[in-house]
Amino acid sequence: MRVFPSKPLILLVVTVMISLHAYAAEASDPDPIQDFCIPNPKFGFIRTEHLTILPCKNSSEATTDDFVFSGVKSPGNFTETGFATIPVSPSVFPGLNTLGMSFVRADLKSGAINPPHFHPRATEIAYVVKGSVYSGFVDSGNRLFARVIEEGEVMVFPKGLVHFQMNVGDESATIFCSLNSQNPGLQKIPSAIFGSGINEELLEKAFGMSHKQIGTMRRRFDPKKV
Ligand SMILES: *[C@@H]1O[C@H](CO)[C@@H](O)[C@H](O)[C@H]1NC(C)=O
Ligand SMILES: *[C@@H]1O[C@H](CO)[C@@H](O)[C@H](O)[C@H]1NC(C)=O
Repeated sequence: MRVFPSKPLILLVVTVMISLHAYAAEASDPDPIQDFCIPNPKFGFIRTEHLTILPCKNSSEATTDDFVFSGVKSPGNFTETGFATIPVSPSVFPGLNTLGMSFVRADLKSGAINPPHFHPRATEIAYVVKGSVYSGFVDSGNRLFARVIEEGEVMVFPKGLVHFQMNVGDESATIFCSLNSQNPGLQKIPSAIFGSGINEELLEKAFGMSHKQIGTMRRRFDPKKV
């Protein structure tokens, strides 16, 4: 009787362990395996268990224009609260596909805010192109790191941490943000809490708020779900 596993079996177990470890450690976008991959709209998406893959068009058909995006020359559409964003991902800028990056142009009228939110899959670098912007984030120990960032300054928001901005200048402000994922994700704290339909009794208990106060917050962040 053989007591010890055979060499091939040991190798197999080690290989499986290494692959599992590699999968668990894959907390950022995968490295590209080719120079670039301009999606071919003819093929749509391929969905696997873990990823959605956009099949590439033949690289000989790529053109310079595939790597240029002109949609951030001017601000996006302002909300009632004076905040405009143009998020740029491979769905609007195909040249970004597989490169592990995306970006956003944000414009804030004087006094306008970008409410507390986080990106589950990306660290963000925010460059103030114009204006004065109170910017900050909160770490996982609830420590606040925040101050006014002036034109030409940059702040980094570590991956997954709650961050926010407010234009404290008299003029409108413009910010250019880069994210190290092509699909960073965005969760806005107020709407995730009050606009998602979480059980009302739970919210009352969690925030020490009355039925009426919770109703006010819900109407504000998702009138459909009240
Ligand atoms: C890509 O295009 C080149 C040049 O037209 C061609 O030779 C090659 O076979 C194509 N590759 C594929 C996978 O279709
Ligand atoms: C702004 O709104 C117009 C009209 O609804 C729309 O065509 C355009 O795509 C919007 N721009 C952005 C950056 O969302």
